[in-house]
Amino acid sequence: MNRNKIVAGNWKMNLAKNDAIKLTEDLVSDSIPEGVKVILAPSFVHLDRVGKLLEGQSSISLAAQNVHAAEKGAYTGEISVDMIKSYGCSYALVGHSERRAYFNESHELLAQKIDALLKNGLSAIFCVGEPLEIRKDGSYKEYVSQQINDSLFHLDASQLDAIILAYEPIWAIGTGETASPEQAQEMHQHIREMISEKYGEAKAEALHILYGGSVKPANATDLFSQADVDGGLVGGASLKAEDFKSIIHYK
Ligand code: 13P
Repeated sequence: MNRNKIVAGNWKMNLAKNDAIKLTEDLVSDSIPEGVKVILAPSFVHLDRVGKLLEGQSSISLAAQNVHAAEKGAYTGEISVDMIKSYGCSYALVGHSERRAYFNESHELLAQKIDALLKNGLSAIFCVGEPLEIRKDGSYKEYVSQQINDSLFHLDASQLDAIILAYEPIWAIGTGETASPEQAQEMHQHIREMISEKYGEAKAEALHILYGGSVKPANATDLFSQADVDGGLVGGASLKAEDFKSIIHYK
């Protein structure tokens, strides 16, 4: 199956207003190669401005970095699916390792967030990935299988169309140490096999599985040319227009 590539930029808690605008303007003025889709995930406060700058073009979509599972109500400081949707988001990240670690997000909560997004017609970019000690003890496939099993496998096959998976080994995030193309491919293939067993081959073949963890212009080509790597979820390098553009133009 010939899946298009997706290059998503997770800005995390970076960039004040003017820098967010400048970066977006720079990306919008660039041509996006055919077969590549770009997704930007700025912080909540930038969704309005970034979303407006993206209006009228179709190759860059907007994502939120997080969302609350409840529809609305007394959750001071939180943001609902309905709100991000009203600012033009088509996606939200769910299960990023930083949210799992620093905000104690459980498998169960992640499943609820996915359900809330899908119910409102949005897609989830569901992140999985093992810490260093699990990589070292060799049980990384089982670890990621469990994450997928616990937060995703309650969905039925038709709902899987609204899921993008992102494999982000924690030991590679922000460390400068990237998984080798072979390590990424091994896990991505494993994930696709798991999906195939549960949902059938056609669904597995259609699923996008992104790699995240120190993706840079220098390694994007090798990573993205692996058979089961359908693009990247980029942190640090998505904050610099030149770097992010060269990842988008990885070929
Ligand atoms: P870095 O690209 O900075 O390693 O971050 C990856 C990431 O966590 C994207 O969500």
